[in-house]
Amino acid sequence: MSKDLIPKMTLALSRRTFLHRSAVIVGGALLGGPAFAANQVCRLTEPEIVGPFYRFGAPFRSQLAGPDEPGDRLILTGTVFSSDCRTPLPGALIEMWQANNAGLYDTSKPGNFTEATTFHLRGMLYTDEKGRYQIETIVPGRYPVPPNLPGLEKYAGLMRPAHIHFRVIESLHIPLTMQLYFKGDPFIAKDPWAGHKQSLAIDLEQDGRLRRGVFDIVLARGL
Ligand SMILES: [Fe+2]
Repeated sequence: MSKDLIPKMTLALSRRTFLHRSAVIVGGALLGGPAFAANQVCRLTEPEIVGPFYRFGAPFRSQLAGPDEPGDRLILTGTVFSSDCRTPLPGALIEMWQANNAGLYDTSKPGNFTEATTFHLRGMLYTDEKGRYQIETIVPGRYPVPPNLPGLEKYAGLMRPAHIHFRVIESLHIPLTMQLYFKGDPFIAKDPWAGHKQSLAIDLEQDGRLRRGVFDIVLARGL
């Protein structure tokens, strides 16, 4: 990953943002101090389905969207922690994939996980020595659930809230698959996935022409 971007990340973390994260952790864990405040709760990040648009083999990169990609520019940062919400996990592999601004993925073959696409708006990276990640992308567009997906037929046509997919793997922890949402999206409430997992929705803050979001991830220990 582009480690030159990492130092900017912690500086962007606001107290308000900390208090609204899913696995709520006090900034001390990131900034070198003690981990928890008295009113904070440590929770594992909630899992979700992989969905039909995952593809194996995305390139290593932290910039998912090129400079000419249409859409609102988004800088997303966070830290991957162990189940105590305070031990950062360096070297965790994060895969991300998302739709473009118009709600389209780089494939029209849902469910074909080994298809070699252009890997547009897809990437993977390792967390740095402090368990941190940063990606530069665009806010994804919404899209309807495609028809004729085995097991999801009853949801065909349902408009999904904007989301970014994650898979997170670390050798001593249980792999996590999840989707990240954005607070205020009116399609969250009736979504069969996001509607029950409010902890996976974050606030985005405007920073000039950028939007910034912070999402920390807590994995379950496998030992
Ligand atoms: Fe999706």
